[in-house]
Formats: sequence, structure tokens, C-alpha cells
Amino acid sequence: MSDATPVEAWFIDNSAVSAVRLLPSTAVVEAAEVLRAGGLLGLPTETVYGLAADAEDATAVARIYEVKGRPNDHPVIVHVAAASAIEEWAVAIPAYARELAVAFWPGPMTLVLPRSSRAGDFITGGQDTVGLRVPNHPVALAVLAAFGGGVAAPSANRFGEVSPTSAGEVVADLSDRLGAGDAVIDGGRCAVGVESTIVDCTGAAPAILRPGAVTIADIERVTGLPVVSGGAVVRAPGTLASHYAPRATVWLADSAAEVQRLASAHPGAGLIADAAVPTPAGLQRLAAVESVADYARELYRALRAADEQGLVSVIALPPVGVDLAFAVRDRLTRAAHK
Ligand code: TXA
Ligand code: MG
Repeated sequence: MSDATPVEAWFIDNSAVSAVRLLPSTAVVEAAEVLRAGGLLGLPTETVYGLAADAEDATAVARIYEVKGRPNDHPVIVHVAAASAIEEWAVAIPAYARELAVAFWPGPMTLVLPRSSRAGDFITGGQDTVGLRVPNHPVALAVLAAFGGGVAAPSANRFGEVSPTSAGEVVADLSDRLGAGDAVIDGGRCAVGVESTIVDCTGAAPAILRPGAVTIADIERVTGLPVVSGGAVVRAPGTLASHYAPRATVWLADSAAEVQRLASAHPGAGLIADAAVPTPAGLQRLAAVESVADYARELYRALRAADEQGLVSVIALPPVGVDLAFAVRDRLTRAAHK
């Protein structure tokens, strides 16, 4: 169907020249074919880019782990085109999980549910649950619909590093590990910018495993249940103390005055803060954000820019408040933890 011609994107990474097919957003059929043939696909979602494979192809999923350098006992999220598909992947779905699916899908929320036999050990890391999500991105939804099945996709970064929010970042991170049967489809810059809220739906009430743009207040309002924190003991790399980390050391300020003090201690550092906070002399402004939503969208790009510029340190003034601000502080705290 597509009139789009795949282009070869070439990148030099000191040691080698490598190529990965970068598909335009219209090349939905080609992208679905990559998945069908057992290849890996860089896939845009509204949160971050995923590294996608057929969720029922153990060999393809094994390559995701290899390319990311991720321990293979960590589960991956299965992305589906419509909420109705959860019946195929999960069993014993509680009423509150269905309410959440109706309210927030497509959207930045992953539900962890008891798995059906369709969800293999190679998806769940051997756990008896599966993470499911309907992403809210036109390219992702079109690719999922064209493919037809479930698509396993962790964030398309190397394990422990910062998630990509543009196709170019996926190519820069992974092209030397991807091959001729793989591709990245360009869906522009991600609108949300931080990963989905993960909700454990295996208990009597929902429990948050990772905060995101769907908030505790949203979940309580829709389900009428108190959200518990903690939940089951699960292996969730997004909940490791150090994650989402750039090479630069991240210092968190708790006020504009603290930004000044840190600036004297770390001359030449990058700065991520609200636009109203002036840039102290000697600092490199990485992001001047206008709102919490803007902070979420800009955060990973700014952390990556610090590494591209070879900065030793980044000073960040986190957003205050609950909801998405809480999710942004969660990522900043992990980025700052060494
Ligand atoms: O926004 C997102 O969720 C992105 C986009 C691509 O959809 N994906 C993403 O995937 O962030 P990943 O693999 O980087 O993080 C998924 C998190 C991991 O912490 C994983 O351990 C957890 O979800 N997870 C997946 N399945 C799970 C399960 N059955 N039980 C508990 N945690 C699970
Ligand atoms: Mg990740």
C-alpha cells in the first residue's frame, strides 16, 4: 500500500559503519512485514520508542534481549491494537482492570494481569503474569493492526540507559546491533516522553509498579478503589534504583538557590529546569521547560544532549507536585542514582 521508499540511514560510530532501515511513518505494511518475518522494529509510541518483535516468536524476542543487553529474566510488555485482545493474553481479569482499560486505552498505561497460555515464559520472564498495553500513537496502532498479533516491546535503549523519544535516537543507540531484517519506523517525537504507568492488577485493588502519565488519582477515580503501593514482588528493571541513567552525573536541586550552589560546585554542568529559573553563569542550558508535561517530554532528550556534548555533570531542578510530576521525579531520582 505504501508509496514510501525505505531509506538507508548511515551512522559512523568510531569503529564501524552500520546501517538500519529507517522507514517513514507511512510504511506501515513494511513495518508489519518486518515483525512477521521475525525481525526487530523500532516502534514509536506516545511514551517512548519500543524495540518490537512478534510476542509469540521466541527467537525474535531473544534478540530483543541480546540487542538491549538486558537480563532475560526481565519481563517485556505485550502491545496490542485493541483492549479486546486482553482476553487472549490474560485470564482472571478483575473488573477494575477492565474499567482501567476502557478509561485509559489507548494510552500510557500497562496492566499486569495473570497470563494466559499465549504469553510464553520468554515474554514474562517465567512469571505467571503478563504486562499488556494499547499504545496511543497512530503509527503504533496502524502497525499493530496490520500485524494482527501481540508485539513485545521494551524501550528501545540499551539496558539501564535513557529511553529514546525519537527515531533518530533509536538508530543512534542500536543501529550497530541491528541487521538487514530489522527496521525503525519514524513516528516523530513522543508526546508524553516518560514510560507508561504500570498497574499490577493481580490483587484485590490496583497497585502502581511504575508511575507515569496515568496517575494514582486517575486510577482511584475510575475504579473507586484505593491504590496500594508495592504490590507483588516482581522483577521490573524500571524499578531498579539506578536506571534511565546518562553517563553524566545528575545532581538534583531542591530550589533555584540550590541550583546556584550546585553551579559553583560543578562548573560547566548542564541545566534542566523551568524556564523561569535563570541559567547561572558557566552552565549549559539543556532544557527550559514551560510545564510538567513539557518537562516529561524534554527530560530524556536533555539527558541525551548532555552525553552528546560530553558534559560531566547535569544539574536538574525537578518539578514539584503529584501526578506526572511524581513520575518525572521518579525518573530523575533513578538517573541521579549511581
Ligand atoms: O511506555 C512504555 O511502557 C514503553 C513503551 C515502549 O510501551 N515500554 C517500556 O518497556 O517501558 P520496558 O521493558 O522498558 O519497561 C517495562 C517494565 C519493566 O520494568 C518490566 O519489568 C515491567 O514493565 N513488566 C513487564 N511485564 C511485567 C510483569 N508481568 N510483571 C511485572 N512487571 C512487568
Ligand atoms: Mg526501559
